[in-house]
Amino acid sequence: LVAGVDSSTQSCKVVVRDSDTGVLVRSGAAKHPDGTSVDPRHWWTAFREAAEKAGGLAGVAALAVGGQQHGMVALDAQGNVVRDALLWNDTRSAQAAEDLIVELGDGDRAAGAQAWADAVGSVLVASLTITKLRWLRDAEPENAAKVAAVALPHDWLSWRIAGYGPAGDPTAPLGPQLDKLFTDKSDASGTGYYDAEADGGAGAYRRDLLRLAFGRDDIVLPRVIGPTESGALAHPSVAGTGATLIGPGAGDNAGAAIGLGMAPGDIAISIGTSGVVSAVAPRRTADGSGAINGFADCTGNALMLAVTLNAAQVLDAARAILDADFTQLADLALAAPAGSDGLVLVPYLQGERTPNRPNASGTLHGIRLKNQTRAHIARAYIEGMLCGLADGLDALRALDVPVERVMLIGGAAQSPAVQQIAPQIFGLPISIPAPGEYVADGAARQAAWVLASSEAGAPVDAPAWSTEMTTTLPANPVPVVREQYAAVRDLV
Ligand code: XUL
Repeated sequence: LVAGVDSSTQSCKVVVRDSDTGVLVRSGAAKHPDGTSVDPRHWWTAFREAAEKAGGLAGVAALAVGGQQHGMVALDAQGNVVRDALLWNDTRSAQAAEDLIVELGDGDRAAGAQAWADAVGSVLVASLTITKLRWLRDAEPENAAKVAAVALPHDWLSWRIAGYGPAGDPTAPLGPQLDKLFTDKSDASGTGYYDAEADGGAGAYRRDLLRLAFGRDDIVLPRVIGPTESGALAHPSVAGTGATLIGPGAGDNAGAAIGLGMAPGDIAISIGTSGVVSAVAPRRTADGSGAINGFADCTGNALMLAVTLNAAQVLDAARAILDADFTQLADLALAAPAGSDGLVLVPYLQGERTPNRPNASGTLHGIRLKNQTRAHIARAYIEGMLCGLADGLDALRALDVPVERVMLIGGAAQSPAVQQIAPQIFGLPISIPAPGEYVADGAARQAAWVLASSEAGAPVDAPAWSTEMTTTLPANPVPVVREQYAAVRDLV
C-alpha cells in the first residue's frame, strides 16, 4: 500500500491506494482553519485526524505529501514556527513584490520583471514566498531575526511526519533538526529563490535573491530531492513500523498534474479556492508579463500556470446573493441566455493575481431593466469567473504552449452550468475526470514511484495509473461573452 496526502488551504485529505494497481483502498479527510495566515500546527493535527479517518497508515510502505504552494513557514533554531504561516492567498506582500521587481531591474520595472522571470521562472506577485520574507523583514523585524529555516507547507508536514519538530513534542524524539527538511522541485520552484532549470536542469537555490529580499542568506532551506528519492522515513507513531518511505512530495498543482497523468499538450483548469490554468511543457518559457508562472512539475518537466484568486468563491458569492444552493445556482444560470443580456461580472472580489491587480474589487457592469433577473445574475457570475480563467488560457497560448486537451477539475467543475458554459467561453472541447482527490492521488502515485524505484535499487518509470474521464463536451464557442467581458475588464 501507498498513501497520498493533500494538505490544502482548507483541509487535509489522505488516500491509501494499492501500490501496484493504484486502486483506492480507503481515504479520510479533516478540516483545519483556513484563511490567509494560519498556524502550521493545525495542518499536523488535521493530517493525524485524516489519517485516522482513513483507517490509519499501518501497512503503508511509502507516502508522499502534496500541499498548497508558496506558504512561508518560518522556523526558529528550535524548530518552532516563528509566526503564523502566510499563505499563497495572502496579499499583504504585494508592495514587497513590486519593490523587489523594481530593485532587480535597478529602477526599471519592465527589466526587473523579465529578470525575475529569467532567474526563477516567475515575475513576483504577493503569493510567492520570497515576497513574504521581504514583508517579514520590514514589518516584523523581531520575527525576522528569529528565522533559522524557511519551509513550504508540504515540506514542513513531511518533516513532522518524519518525527522532527519542536523539542518536547512526544512525536519528535529527535528534536528540531532543520537540516533534515526536504522538498521537491515543483514546490521549490514557487518560492522565488529557486531556479529549477539552473545547471542544465539540475536546479539550484538563488541565495543571492534571498539575500536581496531578506537581507540574510544564512537560512536553512530544505534539500531538494529528485522525484524517485525518499527524503526520510515516517516516524513509527505515524505509520507503525518506522520503515515507511516519505517521497519528495509536491506543490498541489504539480500533485494534480501527476494525479491526472498530464503530459505535454494537456491543460488542466481547476476551479477551487484558487482558479488554476496549468500545462506541462518540456521547458519553461520566461513570461516577463507575469501572467504565466514557469514552475517545475514533479516529474522533470515545467509546469506553466496562471492563477486567479477568484474561482469557486465567486460561485459561493452568487449563491449567497441569490440564496441558492449548488443545484439551484446551476438551474438559474442555465435559464439565462449566453452573455446574460449584457450583464458582465469582472470577478476580482478579493483582488486578483492574474492579471496582477491585488487591490482591485469586482464590478457588475451593464445593468439594464431586462437583465435584472436572478437567472441573469447567476449566469453573469459563472461567466465572469470562467472569463477570468480564459484569460489565463490565452496567456498560455501566447507563449506557444500546446493546447490539445482541457481537463476541468475542482469542486465547481461538477456544476452542470459550469460544464455547459465552459466550452462556450474556452472555445475548446472539455474532459471532466471522475471526481477524485487528484492532489492526494498524485502524491500516492509519486509514493508508488518512489517505492518501486527503491525496490529496484534504481529509478524506474512512474506507475501507469490513469484517471478516467467521465464526460467529454464538444467546443461550443460563443465569442460575444468574452468580448463583452474584455471590454469591461479593461475599464476597471
Ligand atoms: C499556485 C497557487 C495556488 C495554491 C493553492 O501558484 O498559489 O494554486 O497552490 O493551494
